Amino acid sequence: MLEVRDLVVSYGAIEAVRGVSLIAAPGVITTVVGANGAGKSSLFRAISGLAPIRGGQVLLDGQDITNLSASRRAELGLAHAMEGRRIFRQLSVEENLQLAWRFGRRRNAWGDALDLVFHTFPILQEKRRTQAGLMSGGQQQMLIVSAATICNPSYLLLDEPSLGLAPIIVQEIYSFFTQRCREDGTTVLLAEQMAALALKVSAHGYVLRQGKVVREGPSRELIDSGLIAALSSAYL
Ligand SMILES: Nc1ncnc2c1ncn2[C@@H]1O[C@H](COP(=O)(O)OP(=O)(O)OP(=O)(O)O)[C@@H](O)[C@H]1O
Ligand SMILES: [Mg+2]
Repeated sequence: MLEVRDLVVSYGAIEAVRGVSLIAAPGVITTVVGANGAGKSSLFRAISGLAPIRGGQVLLDGQDITNLSASRRAELGLAHAMEGRRIFRQLSVEENLQLAWRFGRRRNAWGDALDLVFHTFPILQEKRRTQAGLMSGGQQQMLIVSAATICNPSYLLLDEPSLGLAPIIVQEIYSFFTQRCREDGTTVLLAEQMAALALKVSAHGYVLRQGKVVREGPSRELIDSGLIAALSSAYL
């Protein structure tokens, strides 16, 4: 279980996350929805050790990891697929995957890990020697989620994996991580601006506004409450 208690993240005078508490249970997807600038990415970066935590705690299965480095957190099985397709654009697909594998906790053998990625996304095998930055947006997102999961993480943070992608690619990415979650019992925390699809695949949802949780509950309840329509109209 991944737990966040009263988390505060600030950049100088800007408070991006203002006392957020949430729980992500194993084997299900937990969604954080919120508009542009609500603090989703800051929250995720703080969980993985990449943003400054000013207050509160992050716990993995009860262990306080608030003061651990990002690499130590990765060794504990925490992986983060960052927003905006952060990859090494000049490096090949295979080199990107190898770096991710080295940074993680390496429970699995390199050859097996690579085979699994290529089996899941055959296009990445075809493009294994291609510079990552030259691939399409959809292929880059496949690389991102593959890199994030190459070490069999126990906890997976996915920050807007659908951003800017064609619906058919979104489906492919979503079915990939929902399957990983179901079959491997991975704890998945998903951030999306577009709530509909994310809430449909998740068990529980949190709505973030200006750095605070303004609503939470079983995803089904959030969907039935008309929340999606309210959020969608706010984005128009
Ligand atoms: N590195 C940074 N330095 C200063 N301010 C930042 C930094 N990163 C984010 N912010 C600010 O923190 C607030 C929350 O931003 P954040 O990126 O966490 O939101 P978000 O919900 O992920 O938004 P989006 O949906 O656009 O990705 C915003 O006001 C943003 O301008
Ligand atoms: Mg963001």
